[in-house]
Amino acid sequence: MESSKILVIDDEAVIRDAMKLILEREAYAVETCHSGYRAIELLQQRAFDLIITDLKMPGMSGIELLKSVRTLQPHTPVILITGYASVDTAVEAMKNGASDYISKPFAPDMLLEKVSSVLKQRSIPLDEIDLKKEISKNHGFHQFIGESREMQKVYHRIIHVAATNSTVLITGESGTGKELAARAIHDNSPRKEKPFVAVDCSSLAETLLESELFGHVKGSFTGAVQTKTGLFKVADGGTLFLDEVSNISLSTQAKLLRALQERKVTPIGGTQLVPIDIHLVAATNKNLRTLANEGSFREDLFFRLNIIPIELPPLRSRRQDIPILIRHFLEKYTREIGKKINGIAPDVMAFLEEYSYPGNVRELENMIERAVVLAEGETICNEDLELWDSSAPESGRIIETVPLNAEELKEMKRHIREQAITSLETLFVRNALDRNSWNVTKAAEETGILRPNFQGMMKKLGISAREHN
Ligand SMILES: Nc1ncnc2c1ncn2[C@@H]1O[C@H](COP(=O)(O)OP(=O)(O)OP(=O)(O)O)[C@@H](O)[C@H]1O
Ligand SMILES: [Mg+2]
Repeated sequence: MESSKILVIDDEAVIRDAMKLILEREAYAVETCHSGYRAIELLQQRAFDLIITDLKMPGMSGIELLKSVRTLQPHTPVILITGYASVDTAVEAMKNGASDYISKPFAPDMLLEKVSSVLKQRSIPLDEIDLKKEISKNHGFHQFIGESREMQKVYHRIIHVAATNSTVLITGESGTGKELAARAIHDNSPRKEKPFVAVDCSSLAETLLESELFGHVKGSFTGAVQTKTGLFKVADGGTLFLDEVSNISLSTQAKLLRALQERKVTPIGGTQLVPIDIHLVAATNKNLRTLANEGSFREDLFFRLNIIPIELPPLRSRRQDIPILIRHFLEKYTREIGKKINGIAPDVMAFLEEYSYPGNVRELENMIERAVVLAEGETICNEDLELWDSSAPESGRIIETVPLNAEELKEMKRHIREQAITSLETLFVRNALDRNSWNVTKAAEETGILRPNFQGMMKKLGISAREHN
């Protein structure tokens, strides 16, 4: 049998090493790390059978880590190590779902006994529970449509994080549903009766953003003719959604970090600290880890935000959701526009199922809306979407004029579809490049597509950035 995997977190190297020695002698597979933040990174990468963490650590406390574990790996037991035997902390630990606790200093036998007893109690096996049972079978969740395994995981995490107050960082390419996820978190949380306040951090200049977030007192700067309540305070008791968080300037990032650490804000020009009670949800289509490495995003703020990460998968990596999304948007827009549409031509359907959707669900939604608006008959056909040149020999006419056998006809249809896909993708990539002066890095960033993948698309489509320099 494979040995149980244990993760040990303690800021003191002596304790870490001692635990590792004691546990490895009993043939457990042990990994150690020095902080809760590092532990969260590891928990995102692989599953553990047991977590043993110190309670008091600089940065993130053991209790905070425990709460994140409940979301990231709900079935992994946690043993807390307390510096002193205090009933209060023990009670708090158990209330937050710790399986057991040990007080320092501890005898090796005591540790081993607790570890083996906690591991024995574990009822749910490591292999993932069937998420589908827990999530409504209604083709989706909240406003989300999609029943793929990837989306089930997203719904699952939203439900868990909604029950906690841990900060969430939502990532994903443009149009994957990040804002939808933020709203779903709020609507499923105990805060749902309180405000949901969304701030688009990319649309406001630095000083404006600060006064929006923190508020200002009358006369604190030219134009501050009246005292203004900051959005942190407006969202009191509810959820504050910081969208496009990568666009915040370094100096505002510092203020944001302080506000999150102290759970208090100071309005511009003010002296009083105002306590805040919010669930913070942030979103970005950039890789904040990369930006932190490059120095344009504070690493400590990244860690603060990335407590519970939620990554929304691109549509092309969960193709089985495409048909239900199509049906959903067809129903939505025929209802809104008041048209009767019975179906989609097989050719168009085949195209929609094969296309790569660099603009994700938003792109699919826009295509269907346009098709419904333009549709002249009761079936959506190529003319409604203008996917390929209809003056080219098209299937119906081919049958009449050119005697093709079934195989050749199929091949020709496939070819036409492929050309349509290529031309749409080319348009997408070229437009993104045009908007960014043919700077590949910027174009990839804007669309939220990883740079190597964006370059891969350019290569496949035969687009070269150099031709425009
Ligand atoms: N799974 C889904 N089911 C139904 N609709 C969806 C889904 N995902 C996204 N949408 C729809 O697609 C559109 C884009 O979603 P949203 O604004 O949440 O994306 P985003 O990730 O915030 O994009 P951006 O990075 O460009 O801001 C919205 O109209 C949203 O309702
Ligand atoms: Mg968005």
